[in-house]
Amino acid sequence: MNRTRFSNRTVLVTGGGSGLGRAIALAFAAEGASVVVAGRTRATLDETVALVEGSGGTAVAQVADVARAADVEALVRTAVGRFGSLDVAVNNAGVFRGGQPVADLPEEDWRTLLDINVTGVLLALQAEVRQMRTQPNGGSVVNVSSNLGPHKQVPTTTAYAASKAAVSALTAGAALDHIADGVRINAVSPGASATTMSLRPGESEADRAARMKEESPLGRVSSTEEVAEAVLYLASDAAASVVGTDLVIDGGASL
Ligand SMILES: NC(=O)c1ccc[n+]([C@@H]2O[C@H](COP(=O)([O-])OP(=O)(O)OC[C@H]3O[C@@H](n4cnc5c(N)ncnc54)[C@H](OP(=O)(O)O)[C@@H]3O)[C@@H](O)[C@H]2O)c1
Repeated sequence: MNRTRFSNRTVLVTGGGSGLGRAIALAFAAEGASVVVAGRTRATLDETVALVEGSGGTAVAQVADVARAADVEALVRTAVGRFGSLDVAVNNAGVFRGGQPVADLPEEDWRTLLDINVTGVLLALQAEVRQMRTQPNGGSVVNVSSNLGPHKQVPTTTAYAASKAAVSALTAGAALDHIADGVRINAVSPGASATTMSLRPGESEADRAARMKEESPLGRVSSTEEVAEAVLYLASDAAASVVGTDLVIDGGASL
């Protein structure tokens, strides 16, 4: 594997303190990128930075709530101020709420999902593209959507699904709006992946593995490294003509 695909590139990863975001940050750093990780919890972000630095990479952490425009604007300023540009942004921060049918869905859960998963991606995208379109080499954005919503429906997950369907639509529309600015925008849509988000209430990892044998054609969750590899591909020069796509990584679960 070419380990220098992202040398001299600056990469922002929201939700970089855990799960997929941490794996994505580590993968970019391992291929030469300087990484800015963002989220609401200082301690987990600092852990990611320590992991990156422990393997010889470069990363900085910044506390930010993606649902606040001022926070995401500050993230872009940090990337550019510390490293000179913002070349890649991965809008990965997101939350899950579910468990009730639509009629019983708490309004607060709906608003939280839209606020973080949809408005958070929009605000981050706006700040990122405004910077990238000023750069001679433009930039690349990868939004983290889900197979739930744009590709598949599961009972009692409708609000989350609606939020992710919006992320996929936003990705395609923004990709069309901004490809002429030199900014490529794509999405990945993971299925159940090896993070705490895919554990049902009270479920152990062993329980989840047994459930996946039944539910997934592939028979297992995706590893965080597998999802990260797809994100790196979409962000890389090898994907120069890939625009507005939504790459499903779910072991065939949505087929
Ligand atoms: N795991 C799966 O099976 C799966 C499947 C499909 C899609 N996804 C998507 O993949 C993404 C990553 O999820 P994950 O599985 O890695 O779960 P996770 O470990 O819970 O990661 C979510 C991250 O987002 C951050 N975050 C949440 N709200 C935020 C906010 N308002 N501002 C900034 N950061 C925020 C969290 O950190 P703080 O709480 O510290 O802010 C956390 O680091 C999400 O968008 C999720 O919807 C996951």
